[in-house]
Amino acid sequence: MHPAEISGISEFKDQEVLLKGWVYNIRSSGKIIFLQLRDGTGVIQCIIEKSTVGDELFEEAKTLTQESSLEIAGGVREDSRAPGGFELSVAALKIIQVADDYPITPKEHGSTFLMDNRHLWLRSSRQNAILRVRASLVRYIRDFFDNRGFILCDTPVFTPNACEGTTTLFETDYFGDKAYLTQSGQLYNEATAAAFRKVYCFGPTFRAEKSKTRRHLIEFWMVEPEVAFADLDDIMKLAEDFIVDIVGRTLEDHRDLLVDLLQRDIRPLENVQSPFPRVSYMEAAAILKKKGIDFQTGGDFGGNDETVLATDYDRPFFVHRFPSAIKAFYMQPDPEDASLSLSVDLLAPEGYGEIIGGGQRAHDLDLLKKRVGEHGLPEKAFDWYFDLRRYGTFPHSGFGLGVERALAWICGINHVRETIPFPRLINRLSP
Ligand code: 4AD
Ligand code: MG
Repeated sequence: MHPAEISGISEFKDQEVLLKGWVYNIRSSGKIIFLQLRDGTGVIQCIIEKSTVGDELFEEAKTLTQESSLEIAGGVREDSRAPGGFELSVAALKIIQVADDYPITPKEHGSTFLMDNRHLWLRSSRQNAILRVRASLVRYIRDFFDNRGFILCDTPVFTPNACEGTTTLFETDYFGDKAYLTQSGQLYNEATAAAFRKVYCFGPTFRAEKSKTRRHLIEFWMVEPEVAFADLDDIMKLAEDFIVDIVGRTLEDHRDLLVDLLQRDIRPLENVQSPFPRVSYMEAAAILKKKGIDFQTGGDFGGNDETVLATDYDRPFFVHRFPSAIKAFYMQPDPEDASLSLSVDLLAPEGYGEIIGGGQRAHDLDLLKKRVGEHGLPEKAFDWYFDLRRYGTFPHSGFGLGVERALAWICGINHVRETIPFPRLINRLSP
């Protein structure tokens, strides 16, 4: 009897195995029970026949409810009609617990109910598939940077200053002083980039966003590379190579999950090839106006503007050189037009909108000080950051990719709340 996991069951064809898991679904018809067993790695159909297991065990098996936990032993049979290609003909079973009435049944539930039961909802095959792809995506992200000689330099969660504007700061008490939860590791990346040249940080970030959209989380995971001596073009090329790589690897490894479990049309993902279109903010504003959208040049794009812009492209595309006025304090001005900044967003197609934000950083001390003042930020808290401009300042660039937005796009999920195990939203801190 081999202890086995369902994902590796094909290795045990015509052998006896011991599985441990939970009842995903169960129905009986007379002398036979069909039990879908879930063990976290997959689902397999188990056949319990009265004539094989005997009356007593058969009656016990009939008491099993959805999500009851059990150990089950039997022979692995290949069956092309079975989902997954194999089924188990049960010889013995041991019940660990007969579960109480499980709240999530195969019928349709509303999203509030499902989110209230997120701790249980994670067991369902669709949620399981999304988070499985997430785990792989995180690995592809790390591999991409590690394989290119980037050094992982973790950045702090408690910070003394804002990075992405004061309106979305989470304030907390730090032994009598004010501290903020990090909005981005970028400022620290700029320090580590001077130490290691190519760095990235990858961790949770926090935004007290008053937005209640399908793209906004309060707590999300961001990967942020930063490269010494890179300019705006260099960083766009890096972002392009990066997205082509992580989408390509997802398709290689998870075509089945995407197609069968998530019903993702993967043709748009197969288009994710170099080169990505690059449009300037000014061009994008003109495109929107031409399409009859009431867009105020100088303002930021809304979700709808991004969706309209994306209709012209069959792959992700860059919008670069946004007005300095709508971007963070650290952006390098465009040498051709000082009202514009060397900033860039990468927008995903199919209405998913911005997944990457980044650009070239201002490296002149006086300019940076002026910017900090204009943004109403406390100069003192930035003194260490100014040191990077005092001791061998250097042109440098970087970007941040939001993991949940990228995953929502790749999996074709409507709302980012399903792309993280326990989402934090403006109206949700539980479970
Ligand atoms: O555009 P953002 O704010 O850029 C930065 O934080 C830069 N400091 C990054 C850098 O250059 N190192 O955020 C970057 C990305 C967005 O494109 C989006 O994918 C994600 O982070 N993001 C969010 N994801 C979910 N919920 C939110 N509230 C998000 N805010 C940003
Ligand atoms: Mg942004």
